[in-house]
Amino acid sequence: MAVSKLEKIVSKKADDKTMRYIFPKDFEWGTATSAYQIEGAWNEDGKCESIFDRFFHQKGNAENGDTACDHYHRYKEDIQIMKELGIKTYRFSISWPRIFPKGVGKPNKKGLNFYKKLIKTLLDANIKPAVTLNHWDLPQALQDKGGWANRELTKYFEDYAKYMFKEFGDTVKMWITHNEPWMITNLGYVSGSHAPGIKDFKKAVQVAHNLLLSHGRVVKAYRQMELDGQIGIALNIRPTYPASKSMKDRIAAQKKDLFRNKWFLDPILKGNYQSMLLDFFQRKYGVPNIEKWDLETISTPIDFLGINYYSRDLVKSDENSNELNLRCVKKKNAEYTEMDWEVYPQGLYDVLMMINKDYGNIPIYITENGAAFNDKLTKDNKIHDKRRINYLREHFKKAHEAIKDGVPLKGYYIWSQIDNFEWTTNSKRYGLIYHDFQTFKRTWKDSAYFYKEVIKNNGVIEKTKKK
Ligand code: BGC
Repeated sequence: MAVSKLEKIVSKKADDKTMRYIFPKDFEWGTATSAYQIEGAWNEDGKCESIFDRFFHQKGNAENGDTACDHYHRYKEDIQIMKELGIKTYRFSISWPRIFPKGVGKPNKKGLNFYKKLIKTLLDANIKPAVTLNHWDLPQALQDKGGWANRELTKYFEDYAKYMFKEFGDTVKMWITHNEPWMITNLGYVSGSHAPGIKDFKKAVQVAHNLLLSHGRVVKAYRQMELDGQIGIALNIRPTYPASKSMKDRIAAQKKDLFRNKWFLDPILKGNYQSMLLDFFQRKYGVPNIEKWDLETISTPIDFLGINYYSRDLVKSDENSNELNLRCVKKKNAEYTEMDWEVYPQGLYDVLMMINKDYGNIPIYITENGAAFNDKLTKDNKIHDKRRINYLREHFKKAHEAIKDGVPLKGYYIWSQIDNFEWTTNSKRYGLIYHDFQTFKRTWKDSAYFYKEVIKNNGVIEKTKKK
């Protein structure tokens, strides 16, 4: 992309400078959510338990996804807001247990009907649906069969996906197999802080492999159905940097990068596991079990790579912590979000350039980016979320820089359309739209108005006063 097409610097007055970061003409601005986090209606119209229903109910959490944003009943209102925002595309996920309450078997027509209405309303509003098949809420019935540690799930996932392609393949043109398999593996099976709440490293390594394999099977099935659309996966890539210049910290950062990022990127985009890590896992745990055609299936070419970017990892070597002997540390005097994640826009640029350099010219979508801040509703019904606006603006600028430097970045989904149920750290607000969890009232934050302008201008226009 020629630089002059993307960026113009216009001097207005002698003391005024306007910077324009204009994106390519067909750039797709969007927002994202996931089923468990917004739908509510957890047991309505034939839906059965997902692993997150079970997890939070068993914990006795007062806060859970039972009602969330009640989007199941208010989707029209939400889509009207999206239309007013001007988004071109909306990323949401399908709740597998709404479609196949027991994971397999007879589909639930009422559940299917909800997504039919949702997709139709989006299309009528001229918004392109981007559908994630698995945003973590596995049917509990499949967990009872061993969950993702059971290789048979790769077949069940393929069956479910094929059914969705059959129903929606002509209207939905963008599909995402899994959202962040790293999170399922690590929070679900290493720390146990997410459903299904297991702490078993050996199992986790096999889970990662099975997730990858199921992804590959679904991409293959999509190709075989010869549908006119695109399919990819959303990975939460965090660039890793050593906490000091010491050799130990540099090695630790590399190890973290291998496990967190390359463990998923390499098999999908290169058709192999990084050998250092594979040897280590197989020697120490005897996993993953890899069968003959697995890697070939996993690396079935995808149309785009989705990247969820929030922050970076600063890594220190530490003999006493975890299997990889490292831990992440905080940087002094940096800005942190409510999640305690460092605000680090440069990391987005670094990730995009790294993917482009190491994995070739694959089209990329930022499938999630955003920040949780402590938003307060003022008496006159406003939310002045200046920090979120700054966060978004700085990340947009870095995305723009990466496009200028040759990265085929096609679109950008803000996490999130609306404040929603933020898993184990509920009450963290990510939305462009403020949500009152008692009354379900939706209110535009200042960042929503800001994003509307960005979409309208197809980029960021920034006025800076010369000092
Ligand atoms: C997940 C979202 C989550 C967001 C913010 C991502 O890891 O895909 O479900 O809400 O991060 O924590």
